[in-house]
Amino acid sequence: MSTPPRFDGRVAIVTGAGSGIGATHARFLARHGAAVLVNDVDEPAANAVVEGIVSDRGRAATCAASVATEDGAGEIVATAIDRLGGLDIVINNAGLLRSAPIAEFSTSDWNDILAVSLTGPFFVTRAAWPHLAAQGYGRVLMTTSNSGLLGIPGSAAYASAKAGLWGLLRVLALEGEEVGIAVNGLAPMAYTAMSARSKAAPKAWQDGTGDAWSRRLDVELVSPVAAWLCHESCPLSGEVLSAAGGRVARYFMGLTHGFASETLTMEDIGDQLALVLDTTDPEILRRAFEEGRNLHRRLLG
Ligand SMILES: NC(=O)c1ccc[n+]([C@@H]2O[C@H](COP(=O)([O-])OP(=O)(O)OC[C@H]3O[C@@H](n4cnc5c(N)ncnc54)[C@H](O)[C@@H]3O)[C@@H](O)[C@H]2O)c1
Repeated sequence: MSTPPRFDGRVAIVTGAGSGIGATHARFLARHGAAVLVNDVDEPAANAVVEGIVSDRGRAATCAASVATEDGAGEIVATAIDRLGGLDIVINNAGLLRSAPIAEFSTSDWNDILAVSLTGPFFVTRAAWPHLAAQGYGRVLMTTSNSGLLGIPGSAAYASAKAGLWGLLRVLALEGEEVGIAVNGLAPMAYTAMSARSKAAPKAWQDGTGDAWSRRLDVELVSPVAAWLCHESCPLSGEVLSAAGGRVARYFMGLTHGFASETLTMEDIGDQLALVLDTTDPEILRRAFEEGRNLHRRLLG
């Protein structure tokens, strides 16, 4: 068995770290040697996490600014650098879930959810980027969700934000290549206040009793995956790992080989649907231009 990777000398920001998955990430990183900036708009909750880390001989500081504003994001990054002496890791974890069917989805809920769950990671990462790029090292993690990657009824804004993070992390992984910054995604499933509130949650979750499944979906089984993705030894960038109940797996976007014809008609599509949809040996591409390059080679030789 190899020794657990350490984060001694590293400084990490964890947003939304006053509770749930973020609090567990913060404690996990601190236990493994990182100094942690615990961000949460719920300041007493963030302070409690910091006190726990400090009483455990770790290093941590609180910042209660909102990720959803440019000033807040700037304050989070500046506090990490000023109070903890640097910045190496950004875990964008803060998220907001509210559900309604599309016809009843209010504009204010749409805006609030996008602001915290998509614009927030953009603001915080953009504020951190010049510092990370200047030192030639950084690890950024986006917290996405199967709701956004696969879809779930009633979560139009939340799922759009989480799907948007896929695009954001794919672009930043490419931009980060030049400057030593790796950017990945985490798609967790865990029993937390947020998942217990979800309309899809079983009654035992909603009333706080819990059940065998909620116990298996322990937040403690998510943080090792987040931490591994943020370690200097992690070779990945632009990837999304699912973390749930101790299972780790890769989400990927694949392209089927499909069907091509120079005289394509509408009828061809129906006739060749089995080929269009055939997922045998899909292309898993790293960047957008690879689709055109591969297709050019295939169609024009
Ligand atoms: N729990 C799950 O099963 C699950 C599944 C998929 C994705 N996620 C994602 O994981 C992340 C953590 O989820 P959780 O279940 O721990 O949720 P949670 O609601 O328990 O924690 C979210 C934290 O974010 C904080 N927060 C909200 N708005 C903020 C803002 N503007 N600035 C800073 N902090 C803010 C909240 O105060 C809260 O402490 C979220 O991004 C969520 O979407 C969770």
